[in-house]
Amino acid sequence: MNKKEAMNKIENEIKNCRKCRLYQSRTNTVPGEGNLNTKIMFIGEAPGAREDATGRPFVGAAGKLLTQLIESMGLTREKVYITNIVKCRPPGNRDPQPDEIYTCLPYLKKQINIINPRVIVTLGRHATKTIFELASIPFGSMSSVHGTEFRGKINGRYITIIPTYHPAAALYNPNLRNTLFEDFRVIKEALTKDYKGPLDYFIP
Ligand code: URA
Repeated sequence: MNKKEAMNKIENEIKNCRKCRLYQSRTNTVPGEGNLNTKIMFIGEAPGAREDATGRPFVGAAGKLLTQLIESMGLTREKVYITNIVKCRPPGNRDPQPDEIYTCLPYLKKQINIINPRVIVTLGRHATKTIFELASIPFGSMSSVHGTEFRGKINGRYITIIPTYHPAAALYNPNLRNTLFEDFRVIKEALTKDYKGPLDYFIP
């Protein structure tokens, strides 16, 4: 099975998933989208209203900022892979509950395995806590870990993990906007560690 076939299979499993209560209130599942050969994967929290309506990740207001942040590195959304910890919208945009996160996690682990990214960027506390736990990295607080490179083993492979704030947080707290753009400079550097040309040549 090639990457595309393997991802289609997971997307299908997600579409038919009834493993937690979130299937009852969803309109669409939101498995994730992007380039399966990318070196970088962005992991958010859970779909919101627009994502639930369209089946696509980060297409609302927070998504607009995420798109700008990705473009600030000289990349486009089409060159990266974007997904969430939880693939269905929690009602009223409440936080995903621990049992929902753990029930959904096998899908994310399989997606990471297929894409085999060099860098994972976690957006916000839920994504960071979950990925840190998966990689056996102790989590303190977002303010202590954001914009910092961590190395962790996921699915038996070492991956660079860089947490940053959730773009939605910057919509309410404009001070975080600059911090997010600074963190994305760190992310770009991590991607180009052994390569100094434009990222466009580096990511298919
Ligand atoms: N917030 C998220 O965490 N994920 C989305 O897909 C959209 C908003």
